[in-house]
Amino acid sequence: MTGKLEGRKAVITGAGSGMGRAIAVRFAAEGAAVAALDLDRAAAEATASTIAQAGGSAHAVQVDVSNGASVGAAIAQSVSALGGIDVLANIAGILDGYAPILDTSEELWDRILGVDLKGVFLVTKAALPAMLEGGGGTIVNMASIAGFVARGGGVAYTSAKHGVIGLTKQMAADYGLQGVRVNAICPGAVETAMTKRILEEGELAVIESINAVPAGRHAQPEEIANLALFLANDESSFVHGAAYVIDGGWTVV
Ligand SMILES: NC(=O)c1ccc[n+]([C@@H]2O[C@H](COP(=O)([O-])OP(=O)(O)OC[C@H]3O[C@@H](n4cnc5c(N)ncnc54)[C@H](O)[C@@H]3O)[C@@H](O)[C@H]2O)c1
Repeated sequence: MTGKLEGRKAVITGAGSGMGRAIAVRFAAEGAAVAALDLDRAAAEATASTIAQAGGSAHAVQVDVSNGASVGAAIAQSVSALGGIDVLANIAGILDGYAPILDTSEELWDRILGVDLKGVFLVTKAALPAMLEGGGGTIVNMASIAGFVARGGGVAYTSAKHGVIGLTKQMAADYGLQGVRVNAICPGAVETAMTKRILEEGELAVIESINAVPAGRHAQPEEIANLALFLANDESSFVHGAAYVIDGGWTVV
């Protein structure tokens, strides 16, 4: 590895599984000290231990990104463990089972928006003061192709991911001059626990849509981590408020 994040202090949510885990492992391999945050404490610890075994530096922190008090405590713990924050990757998220509006209860709407959109708001708001104190940094938000088009989820998920792109743009406009770059990643189908669940339980039309990828396959989490690394390090120094589609061509057909 090339040390593209040497000396940086990185907080990653959703680090216990899938893309969050791949991003935490990759950032650590590139020299970052990592706080691996997840709702699932054991999963966060497993990621931290994988990083430590490879010679990297990682701290596992339990958090519910949809809960302000939990986020406040987790970010305080991360700042104290890392000594600051230079990089934030908001990756934690949940899917809504591709439910259309008539099948979306108020509870489901609140749960999906709570994790997928409010979670990004809460974690970013809590982490930003430490980032500004250190002179700025980079934020990578996990949106989705569902942040651009329909058919990437149900109404709650699609609304939340469109919101993540809006939040990303507004943050870039508000904090660019203070040295904070904020960008979003918009993957198509990636081979993770989330995709596995929908491929096992979803309706045939949903499964066919997920599988209709010009690349002829789904992404590996590590391929998404490559893009996260680009947006987190100085190679992307003029990229502000962008939403990068990485979908194997899913949205071109
Ligand atoms: N898998 C895909 O095809 C795909 C495509 C586009 C975008 N995404 C997005 O990528 C992100 C990661 O998804 P993944 O596929 O790696 O899923 P995953 O299920 O493998 O991992 C998600 C992680 O988030 C954690 N999490 C869930 N709720 C949380 C909460 N309230 N607080 C803290 N952590 C919480 C889970 O414990 C899990 O470790 C999500 O935001 C998802 O919406 C996924």
